[in-house]
Amino acid sequence: MAIFHVPLTYTVDDSYDIEIGENLFPILVKDVKAGILPGAHRYALITDSNVTALYGEKLLGMLKAEGLTVEIFSFRPGERHKTRTTKARLEDKMIAAHFGRDSAVIALGGGVVSDLAGFLAGTFGRGIPFVNYSSTLLAAADASIGGKTAVDTPEATNLIGLFHQPKKVYIDISLWDTLPECEIRNGLAETVKHACLGDCDFFVYLEKNIEKIMMRTDSQNSLNREVSAYIAARNCEIKYRVVAEDVRETNRRQVLNLGHTLGRALEPLTNYMINHGEAIAIGLVFQMRLGLASGYVSAEDFSRVRSLLSRVGLPIVIPPMVKIEHLIEKMRTDKKVRKDEIRFVFQKGIGAMMRFEDGSYSRPVSENELIQALKDSY
Ligand SMILES: NC(=O)c1ccc[n+]([C@@H]2O[C@H](COP(=O)([O-])OP(=O)(O)OC[C@H]3O[C@@H](n4cnc5c(N)ncnc54)[C@H](O)[C@@H]3O)[C@@H](O)[C@H]2O)c1
Repeated sequence: MAIFHVPLTYTVDDSYDIEIGENLFPILVKDVKAGILPGAHRYALITDSNVTALYGEKLLGMLKAEGLTVEIFSFRPGERHKTRTTKARLEDKMIAAHFGRDSAVIALGGGVVSDLAGFLAGTFGRGIPFVNYSSTLLAAADASIGGKTAVDTPEATNLIGLFHQPKKVYIDISLWDTLPECEIRNGLAETVKHACLGDCDFFVYLEKNIEKIMMRTDSQNSLNREVSAYIAARNCEIKYRVVAEDVRETNRRQVLNLGHTLGRALEPLTNYMINHGEAIAIGLVFQMRLGLASGYVSAEDFSRVRSLLSRVGLPIVIPPMVKIEHLIEKMRTDKKVRKDEIRFVFQKGIGAMMRFEDGSYSRPVSENELIQALKDSY
């Protein structure tokens, strides 16, 4: 008998750039040609069918025009297709098209695409590189940055996945022009979340400018570029600051979960009739209601957050069809649950987060506390 010790200590540099601007396809093409996706000779452009029609074919043409070997792999849009089945279908198609370990992924789309394509890239050939080219405000605000990738199951969202950092993130605010209003609202929900958790001045900016971003400024239906660029930059800064401190979500990164404990439960319970941003808006108000009862936020803070979310056109109450007992049951599948206790992260006023005596950014919430706050949230 013998025991061998296998020394495997890694030093990893997963740093990457986030480029914010307008019409960034030429820059992406230049980066790919310059080798931003190391070791790759074949590129899988993964996107959904809405984005394929709007932008995917154009990008495919531009990449091919440079002599790159690229194929587009498209799937049906929406959260309900962010599944293991979709991932397996795409993988099978890539294998059939002779994609191997010398491939890379270009994820073009919103958060559903970046989550699914990033996860696929993390497991295909035991891990191939990828870049995120985000096409929604929500993905720009949140999903495309941070390296968390995942798919949903019927029981829980984002439970099956891995950490896989992109080689670069492109935030092209000109692509937001074609977003339906509801998708802009979704992105603004995560934007308000960021301001609530990390930057009071940004919150004040949003209070002054929130309607401006939704104003179409010219005959091209363009969104306000100045406000879009500012929002994109502030969102990135807040998110990457937190992620850089705690990539694997051992503690500090939990603050990005603000509003998500209830929000994540609401999405499947309404069969995704309310979307991610709407669910987060309701969840943000809910954690503030709990926080108000515990003295973490003032009544004025509470009313400012509710009012800002309402001005965006986001819901702030739980839909009547969802039952309290189902919400509690669903929240038990939240990733922060420890020893069967449902945990929440909380705002400390506006622009900061509570940190508790044990050093954790989350604390358990008793069933009584939950039931009382839930009753007041319809
Ligand atoms: N990984 C993370 O850290 C993280 C963080 C936040 C959210 N997310 C995930 O992000 C997802 C939500 O992201 P999303 O709202 O971008 O969803 P999405 O990718 O489904 O996009 C929303 C809709 O907009 C369409 N679309 C995309 N770009 C468009 C454009 N430029 N013009 C017109 N239509 C466009 C899409 O086809 C889709 O129908 C959720 O699955 C959520 O779990 C992940």
